[in-house]
Amino acid sequence: MSAVNFALGALAGAAATAVAADAYPSMMPSLGFSRPKDIELKYFDIAGAAEKVRFTLLMGGVPFKDTRVSFGDWGKMKETTKFGQLPLMYLNGEEKPYAQSGAMLRFAGAITGLMPKDPVQAFKVDEAIGLDDDLRREMRPSIMLSYDQTIKPKEKARKVKEMREKLAANEIPRFLSHFEKMLENSEYLCGSSATIADAQFLTTCRWLGSGVIDHIPADITTKYPNITAFRARMEAKPEIAAYLNKPK
Ligand SMILES: *[C@@H]1O[C@H](CO)[C@@H](O)[C@H](O)[C@H]1NC(C)=O
Repeated sequence: MSAVNFALGALAGAAATAVAADAYPSMMPSLGFSRPKDIELKYFDIAGAAEKVRFTLLMGGVPFKDTRVSFGDWGKMKETTKFGQLPLMYLNGEEKPYAQSGAMLRFAGAITGLMPKDPVQAFKVDEAIGLDDDLRREMRPSIMLSYDQTIKPKEKARKVKEMREKLAANEIPRFLSHFEKMLENSEYLCGSSATIADAQFLTTCRWLGSGVIDHIPADITTKYPNITAFRARMEAKPEIAAYLNKPK
């Protein structure tokens, strides 16, 4: 049985005999299953869909190989991948990777303890992730349109601007208000310690506030004091700070 299958089996309550920590003896000896000894995460050299997984592994102190794929190499690599998608995650040097960043996030949460095992706590975490997914889904049409090669550039620019201005005025503030409220009385989205939901929402805050999405003002999240404090709190975590401040 592979470490993953074993881990999932143990999570499901089967065969939960103590094989506790092997590779990370000092950490979380109570997990009750063995972690993969080797993790490689392959993605483009951007935050994108992999950053939430990176943040989770970093916060959990789980070492991983953070492989970056250039857009130039992707062309020929794409058809060789499982679903024609990145990111991919390789465990224990196995040839066959896992796909789907949401699945990787939950897996990373399971092996780091940043996804609560308690079903009701996990429910809250998934609820917050669902809300963040919804926000991102609202952004998608204008992102896809901006890549559309079949529309005249001028017409496209006009449409993208119109859509983004609407997003910045309506949908984004609507979602951010919900997150602001969730952070009003708690340091993290689901309580007093970070979970995978925080790893994902931090990624979204950094993306929205990056200034790289045309017509989305870079200060869009800074109007929310609790979100602003949340972001600073997350970015001050030593593992995250070291990663973000690493010279390129
Ligand atoms: C949320 O923001 C308000 C207003 O700045 C502040 O009083 C409160 O302490 C903040 N809550 C948290 C958990 O930081």
